[in-house]
Amino acid sequence: MTIHFALRPAARFLSLLALCSGSALAFGATAAVPAGVTAIKAGRMVDVEAGRLLLDQVILIEGERIKAVGPAATLVIPPGAKIIDLSQAMVLPGLIDVHTHLTGNPREHGYVGLGTSNMRAALYGVRAARDTLNAGFTTVRNVGASGFGDVALRDAINDGDFPGPRMQVSGYALGIKGGHCDNNLLPPEYNDTGVGVADGPWAARTKVREMAKFGADMIKICATGGVLSKGDEAGAQQYTLEEMQAIVDEAHKLGRKVAAHAHGTTGIRDAILAGVDSVEHASLIDDEGIRLARQKGTFLVMDIYVDDYILAEGEKAGFLLESLEKERKIGQLQRDNFRKAYVGGDRMAFGTDAGVYPHGDNAKQFYYMVKYGMTPMQAIQSSTIHAAELMGWKDRIGSIRSGKFADLIAVQKDATVDVTVLTEVEFVMKGGQVVRRTPVP
Ligand code: ARG
Repeated sequence: MTIHFALRPAARFLSLLALCSGSALAFGATAAVPAGVTAIKAGRMVDVEAGRLLLDQVILIEGERIKAVGPAATLVIPPGAKIIDLSQAMVLPGLIDVHTHLTGNPREHGYVGLGTSNMRAALYGVRAARDTLNAGFTTVRNVGASGFGDVALRDAINDGDFPGPRMQVSGYALGIKGGHCDNNLLPPEYNDTGVGVADGPWAARTKVREMAKFGADMIKICATGGVLSKGDEAGAQQYTLEEMQAIVDEAHKLGRKVAAHAHGTTGIRDAILAGVDSVEHASLIDDEGIRLARQKGTFLVMDIYVDDYILAEGEKAGFLLESLEKERKIGQLQRDNFRKAYVGGDRMAFGTDAGVYPHGDNAKQFYYMVKYGMTPMQAIQSSTIHAAELMGWKDRIGSIRSGKFADLIAVQKDATVDVTVLTEVEFVMKGGQVVRRTPVP
C-alpha cells in the first residue's frame, strides 16, 4: 500500500496564504483543524519509557512533531486529518544507533580502502544514510570520519538534499601517534599521519577545539588499541588518564560529549575515571570497570554483532590477517562481558559499528543483546530512550511522546516477544514524513 503525503491543494493554498501574511495566526489561533495533521492508528505501541506495550493507540502528528498520543477510545482524531492505518502493526519510536561510520564501506577494509578519497567516502555515505534510515534507524551518532565527510552528510541531510537519519558527528577520532585512530598502513616515506592524532594533554585539547571548530557535535577518542588497526593490541591502553582528563574537560567545556573507543581493561577504567560519557566496545571490561561505569553513570556501547561479519567476510573484505586474529581473541569475550556488564544496569546504549559491516544491517545486533541477557524490551530501550539520553536528545527523540519529533517505525510482529522482527521494519517515518512503507527487497 502506498500513502501519498503531498499537501492537499486547499492546505497548500492555506499555508501559502499564511506565509504571505507573515503568520499562521492570520487565520485565527483557534482553527479547529490545523492543516497537515496526521493521525496514526497504532494497533500495538511500545511505550519505551514505562517499558510496556499499549493497545489501540492514536498518535497525532503536526508538522515534524508529535502533538498528542493516547488511547483510540478517548483521543479524538480531528476531522480532515490524514489517517495512517497501522492498526495491524506494532509501532515503536525510530531506532537509534550511537556507533556508526556512515562514510565507511564494509567492502574496503585494510589496504583496499587506501584508494578511496575523503570525497568519495562522503558520497558513499549518501547511500549509507539512506540504507540506515530505510532500516528504521532515524538517528545515529557517527563516531569517526575523515575529511569532515560526516559533518557534510549531517548538514546535507538537515538541508533536505537527500534522505538520512538525524546525525551527531565527531569529525576525526582523536588518538595517539601509531594508535588505533592513526593511519598505520603506509611506510614512513609516505608520512601519513591521521589528522586526529594528538599526543599530550595540550595537543589533545587543541584537537578537541579543532573538531568543534569544524562542526563536530561530539568528540571520539581512542583510549586503547583496536581490531582493525595495524600494529597495535586491542587490549593495550593508548591515551593516558591525563590526556583523557584534558580531552573530557575541554570537550565538556565546549558542550560536547566524549565517546571513548576502548577494548582493554585499563583503558576502559581510565576513560571512565576521566569522565567520558560512553565507552565504546568495552570488550575486556572487568568487575571494577563495570562498577565504576555504574557509579559514574557512564554508558556502555557494546557492538556485539559485528564479530559475525568480520569473521565471515575475512580477507575478502580486506581485513588484515592480524585483525582477524585479534577479532578471534576478543569477539566472544566481549559477548560474555556484555552479559556481565548488563545485569541490572540501564546505561547501555545500542551501537553497532555499522560501516565495518553493511549499513542497514544494524538491527541484526538485537538478537545478540537478547541472547546475552537483555529482555527484548530492554534491547529496544537501549536503542531508543537510553540512546537518546546518551546523546543528550531525550527532549526530542527516543520515545513516542507529545512534543518530540515524529520519528516512528512499525513492524508486523511483536518485537517485545521476538526482537529479531526489528530487522524487518515495514514503515519508517522521520520528522512526520513517511520515508517508506513497504519492505525493502
Ligand atoms: N572498530 C573496532 C576496532 O577496530 C571494531 C571492533 C569489532 N569487534 C568487536 N568484537 N566488536 O577495534
